[in-house]
Amino acid sequence: MTGPALSDAHGSSGARLIDGKGFAARLTQDIATEVSAFYDRHRITPGLAVVLVGNDPASEVYVRNKALQTHRAGMRSFMHMLPATTSQEELLGLIARLNVDPEIHGILVQLPLPGGLDPVAVTNAIVPEKDVDGLGVVNAGRLALGLPGIVPCTPLGCLLLLRHYVGDMRGQHALVIGASNLVGRPMAQLLLQEGCTVTVAHIDTRDTAALARQADIVVVATGVRELVRGDWIRPGATVIDVGISRVSLPGGRTRLVGDVKFDEVAPHAGLITPVPGGVGPMTIACLLRNTLDAARTIVEGRAP
Ligand code: GUN
Repeated sequence: MTGPALSDAHGSSGARLIDGKGFAARLTQDIATEVSAFYDRHRITPGLAVVLVGNDPASEVYVRNKALQTHRAGMRSFMHMLPATTSQEELLGLIARLNVDPEIHGILVQLPLPGGLDPVAVTNAIVPEKDVDGLGVVNAGRLALGLPGIVPCTPLGCLLLLRHYVGDMRGQHALVIGASNLVGRPMAQLLLQEGCTVTVAHIDTRDTAALARQADIVVVATGVRELVRGDWIRPGATVIDVGISRVSLPGGRTRLVGDVKFDEVAPHAGLITPVPGGVGPMTIACLLRNTLDAARTIVEGRAP
């Protein structure tokens, strides 16, 4: 349990900061060591294919970062940048080729997809053993049943931070705000497996603030910037902020903010992730983890 304590303008001691950036760097280093050992055993380098359709600027930054980190971990990165005019048939054709390509052990199709492409059909076209996003029905179903499988990267990153900083979560009340397939739903399943009592709040929830006030752990993944306010958080609670939005400042500069109003919440929380430097770096580190695990499953024939 590490991390500096924060202080706030009112003089209370405030939360300890969860250092996702440092944790992810150590994780990536460990993965690089394991990739090297995997190569020594099999003369095979794990390969990750990332598919981006269209030119959403945020997605372009994400996929470039994924490629960079994949190389840093000693793995091979295969980028497929397709025009926004790509048809569903063309995209499914590419996935079919990647599914049988022996150099590829993980496939990720960056979301959101441009209008006209069906993300459910596309993510489910990836064979389950290469579905390093864990978004297909096989891996999502395995997670729901508590069976081993590939777990979506962002919730897995949150879980690793929680295990490290909080430790035993049995009996804790966890509130997940946001019910997306990418984060909220798998996060709720993982917290349930840790022995938490889990509540999921979503767009139709009547009083999310009242639920948050009862929670020991709050994980927020809504995309609504600075949704969670200081008076939502009970003293000493752990707050994991998955949100990341870019806001404009005077003078043309920009700043990244999360789904938590950090300056208000930090004085109340026991532990809190910053934005940036919290959950974000963990997502990519977990993608690398999932890719190496997928390569092991494919090459060594063992369950992840
Ligand atoms: N877009 C934003 N986050 C993600 C992610 O974790 N996986 C994919 N495929 N797309 C994303």
